[in-house]
Amino acid sequence: MKSQPLPAARLVGRFSRIHTQLCELFQKTPDPTARMATAVALLHHKLPHFFWTGFYRLIGEDLIVGPYQGPLACSVLQRGKGVCWACLREDRAMLVADVHQFPDHIACDARSRSEVVVPVRDHRGCIQAVLDVDATRPNAFSAVDVEGLQRIADLIWGG
Ligand code: SME
Repeated sequence: MKSQPLPAARLVGRFSRIHTQLCELFQKTPDPTARMATAVALLHHKLPHFFWTGFYRLIGEDLIVGPYQGPLACSVLQRGKGVCWACLREDRAMLVADVHQFPDHIACDARSRSEVVVPVRDHRGCIQAVLDVDATRPNAFSAVDVEGLQRIADLIWGG
């Protein structure tokens, strides 16, 4: 059952083990879609506070949903609005403690209350996608989640 975040020390350990496991699994293929699907499966099942876990890919000028787990999500995000577009625009990770306080947050599911989004870059450093996670509780994420997710996002287009 999806619920409380783990205490920080356990969360650090959990992210570290997921990272190690993904490094090994990613040896099978460099294909970004396969890697995204694998990362999402592991993250979503190993982290109890992850209610929605997935990628949005920048395709042309749209953010289009990629591999995800959790409730049904928006297929295309309205241009320029919401947390995922803010991550792209500001070129940085976004940690939103309460989505109701984020002016143009896009609510794909009304149960989502906090959110973290990190950029996914290719070899040249260009953002190709974002990794987005929602929780049902306000303030469910910390800097540990941001760092853990960013290290995983960096593996997608990595060697
Ligand atoms: N809340 C996101 C949209 C994607 S859903 O969280 C799955 C946003 O504001 O960009």
